[in-house]
Amino acid sequence: MPEVEEAHPTLNDGDVVKGAEEEEPQNDEKALDDPTPLSKNAQKKLLRQKRYEEKKAEKKALEKEHKKKEAERKRKEWEEKLANVPEEEKVKLLESRKNLRKERMDQRNEEKEKKRERLLKTKQFGQNVVVDLEFSHLMTPNEIHSLVQQIMYCYAVNGRSSSPAHLWLTGCDGEMGNQLQRIPGFDKWIIEKEKESYIEALQDRKENLVYLTADSENVVEELDLNKIYIIGGLVDRNRWKGITMKKAEEQGIQTAKLPIGNFIQMSSSQVLTVNQVFEILVKFLETRDWKTSFFSVIPQRKRCQADSEEGNANDTLQEENEENDDQIARKKACGENEAPCNTLET
Ligand SMILES: C[S@@+](CC[C@H](N)C(=O)[O-])C[C@H]1O[C@@H](n2cnc3c(N)ncnc32)[C@H](O)[C@@H]1O
Repeated sequence: MPEVEEAHPTLNDGDVVKGAEEEEPQNDEKALDDPTPLSKNAQKKLLRQKRYEEKKAEKKALEKEHKKKEAERKRKEWEEKLANVPEEEKVKLLESRKNLRKERMDQRNEEKEKKRERLLKTKQFGQNVVVDLEFSHLMTPNEIHSLVQQIMYCYAVNGRSSSPAHLWLTGCDGEMGNQLQRIPGFDKWIIEKEKESYIEALQDRKENLVYLTADSENVVEELDLNKIYIIGGLVDRNRWKGITMKKAEEQGIQTAKLPIGNFIQMSSSQVLTVNQVFEILVKFLETRDWKTSFFSVIPQRKRCQADSEEGNANDTLQEENEENDDQIARKKACGENEAPCNTLET
């Protein structure tokens, strides 16, 4: 998985994409036309992040090696076991292993089918959520890569949810479209993929479009099935401050922010990543409770100490957990796909 931005979940099944998290918004009014160059602090942070990524890559390689050795050890152990039992026993052992594998496979297929049914039902009757992919020209290749990872994660989280949303990817064109096409199994995803913008694709429902943006003065109280919520498909560390608000205003569509401030005190900005916002929406569909949704998705280090459920957890521990969660998330996200997951990494 290359560099800085990747799927990186924390807290239960909550997903946080490490490195894709937003920095403090820069108080620079000209930001919309001219993104501010990195400050010294931001450069330091970037360097720290780079080191963190290197450490993570090292750890990943070690884990891969360990896994390989472990698999080899188990294979040998199994062969020795077979070699040391009478023929009759050997047949029984082989049969029992075959049955166990079949059981697991059946269980997996059953889960897949249930997920398919849930997603198809949601497609007909569920809550529509759009990710607006019209910002590729404002992102670096790494940021685009990160966004693709976030979308993979959104799909994986949605598939596991008992109350999923119906996901739309609009403006699915150019480099963004190409990268999405490279996701193994993408063609089979139960979502809407549109090359067009949401404003064209959903023109007859324009009055129901609500652009979610941290810069709005309106606050989402409830999710309304008639409304279509739009998330800006952008990984920009808030370099492009206010861009989605400006876009929605120019298009004359409604805007709203998540009610984070009513439930949580954030240690920095309230600008969340695409996958965090998506997962909060999905959690809310499940629980109808914002507080639970925020607490299960927003990482502890982004919350003020007083708001933190585990108060004194230290950052190192948090990072270690996130690294582990990252591995799990990637596996889970990849489990959704038909082909091997490393296709994206090359
Ligand atoms: C990484 S943010 C992009 C920030 C970008 N500078 C902007 O102006 O929107 C990704 C998207 O998540 C959504 N988002 C992030 N934080 C939010 C919040 N607190 N309330 C509502 N939507 C939010 C917005 O749709 C946003 O475009």
